[in-house]
Amino acid sequence: MNLYERNQKQRNFFNEKIESYDQVHETYMETKRMLAENLDKDTKKILDLGAGTGLELIYLFEKYPNANAVVIDISENMLEELSKRDFAKRVTTICGDFFEVDFGKDYDAVISTSALHHFKPEEKEILYKKIFECLKENGLFINCDKISLNQEAQNKALYELEHNIENYKHIDTPLTIENEIAILEKIGFIGIHSNKVDKEDYSLIKARKKIIISKQ
Ligand SMILES: C[S@@+](CC[C@H](N)C(=O)[O-])C[C@H]1O[C@@H](n2cnc3c(N)ncnc32)[C@H](O)[C@@H]1O
Repeated sequence: MNLYERNQKQRNFFNEKIESYDQVHETYMETKRMLAENLDKDTKKILDLGAGTGLELIYLFEKYPNANAVVIDISENMLEELSKRDFAKRVTTICGDFFEVDFGKDYDAVISTSALHHFKPEEKEILYKKIFECLKENGLFINCDKISLNQEAQNKALYELEHNIENYKHIDTPLTIENEIAILEKIGFIGIHSNKVDKEDYSLIKARKKIIISKQ
């Protein structure tokens, strides 16, 4: 299955999960609070990748009253739930695939929670390059997401994705923290570090855009 087909499968999966989504994901609210704590004080213009029903924006908009967000999500049902929230007027929604939609530009921060653990390393490289390019100079990327605890676990997940012998509807393929950091470094992000959160198989990774101009 190619990337486009896998992303459409994600869309169907989340469209169907909508009834129980917020309840099931309540356990991740602490990670979303941490994300809000880690943004720069003067953050105003935010891009949220895979915002879903907008759970991470609850704390974020409380803490940053001058912030607004563009959100991109492939599931129309998830975005419909988001549009019912009190803060909906502070959000511009784009329904589409990360790999097809134009991200816009000049963001103070790009954030994502629980939404980027379905891609292969080479696909993440394409995505992180898009993120780098849409940030302002000095802008911040924060990704709170599942991680593989070791290389073996990552390899096993990627093998399952390729073969899907059990015909799973949804296969998580988180990378290890080391592999996440290596991709971010390759793109040119600096100051990359990962913070522990309240779950072992989850991490908050921060990276900053700095354009290095070489002196000739
Ligand atoms: C587990 S939910 C996370 C939602 C929210 N960020 C949260 O933490 O509660 C993942 C979201 O990513 C979206 N998503 C997954 N793959 C996507 C893609 N390729 N393009 C756009 N959105 C995608 C899904 O539709 C879903 O709403």
